[in-house]
Amino acid sequence: MKRTPRNGTGWTIPNGVKLRYTAPMKSNRIGILTGGGDAPGLNAVIRSAVKYGAGTLNWRMVGIEDAFNGLLESPRRLRDLTPRSCQGLLHRGGTVLGTTNRGDPFSFPMSDGTATDRSAEVAEAVQAEGLEGLIVIGGDGTQAIGLRLMDEHGIPVVGVPKTIDNDLNSTDFTFGFMSAVETATEALDRLHTTAESHDRVMLLEVMGRDAGWIALWAGVAGGADCIAIPEIPYDADRFAAKIRDRRQKGRHFTIVVVAEGAAPHRGERMPTHVPHGQGTLRKSGAADTLAHLLTERIDVETRTTVLGHLQRGGSPVAYDRVIATQFGVKAVELIHRGRWGEMVCLSAGEVTSVPIRDAIATYRTVDPTDPLIAAARSVGIEFGG
Ligand code: F6P
Repeated sequence: MKRTPRNGTGWTIPNGVKLRYTAPMKSNRIGILTGGGDAPGLNAVIRSAVKYGAGTLNWRMVGIEDAFNGLLESPRRLRDLTPRSCQGLLHRGGTVLGTTNRGDPFSFPMSDGTATDRSAEVAEAVQAEGLEGLIVIGGDGTQAIGLRLMDEHGIPVVGVPKTIDNDLNSTDFTFGFMSAVETATEALDRLHTTAESHDRVMLLEVMGRDAGWIALWAGVAGGADCIAIPEIPYDADRFAAKIRDRRQKGRHFTIVVVAEGAAPHRGERMPTHVPHGQGTLRKSGAADTLAHLLTERIDVETRTTVLGHLQRGGSPVAYDRVIATQFGVKAVELIHRGRWGEMVCLSAGEVTSVPIRDAIATYRTVDPTDPLIAAARSVGIEFGG
């Protein structure tokens, strides 16, 4: 079934799906929310979308608090956003709307430990508030929820990609990534001086989930000697050999960047898993695992630093402020042109859009043949495989 074109366009609704959402054709009242883990630049997107939507196009922009949760609570947690209320947001880290990675309305966590489908309540709330559609700023999980709300309830949605992990397909970069890389690079600069003073092997564990982008970029920018990423299961012998080789050349310290998802290829000692979000797990202890494997092979003094949420907090770097501003404007432009169901993206340096469905179909990890890996190997960085 093809949906009646709204604002000049339409999208295909799966057969048999009855739409519950019948908002006014054009209420010029748009909801905006942030979902999943925060990332530097979220506020910059909110600001630019509001400045363009409310300031230039005279729309009502409505902020929804804590992702979809703000629509599910009674009273609903919504607030009008105006260019004035968004003053001073460009450089501010976090999200003024709040966020959560435990609020999937299709599998909403209940207090008794069970999960229930509350997505119809979201549709009812969107309709009751007279929202023409939603700007959903988030990573793959949040975009998938937005798409499902559109497919199953007909709620018009436009996506804006966010994550420090840079693991979303169809966009060259997500905002937040460069800020995380900058923080990790600064940490490496600091670790260098103390490593050199003590002749130690310093391991820095960085975030990234199952993707090694932060480790790769920060490792190259921070002059790491070894980088361990999930996409290249490592042989600890190779890292030990690199440390020995450096010693022979008179370099008695070594800097190792370890992505949180990295693991040895032989599985001799694996990082553990800890709960993350709704029913998901993430690896824990990647740097400690490698440190242990090194001490089994070579007489070294190791220290590990887990950078953690320092990578997510604080102000966005200039690059993230710039693309976040462009992304917010583009999201409003997509709505203006009736391009619901699309996600803003950066393609070969140009801000454009792709269907959300395509954007979340696959996950973007580091290709071991990536030119940056090749360049890193050329300057002597060891990947362990
Ligand atoms: O997806 C962003 C991210 O920061 C990952 O790099 C990391 O694994 C995870 O979120 C941490 O999530 P939380 O804030 O729930 O601990």
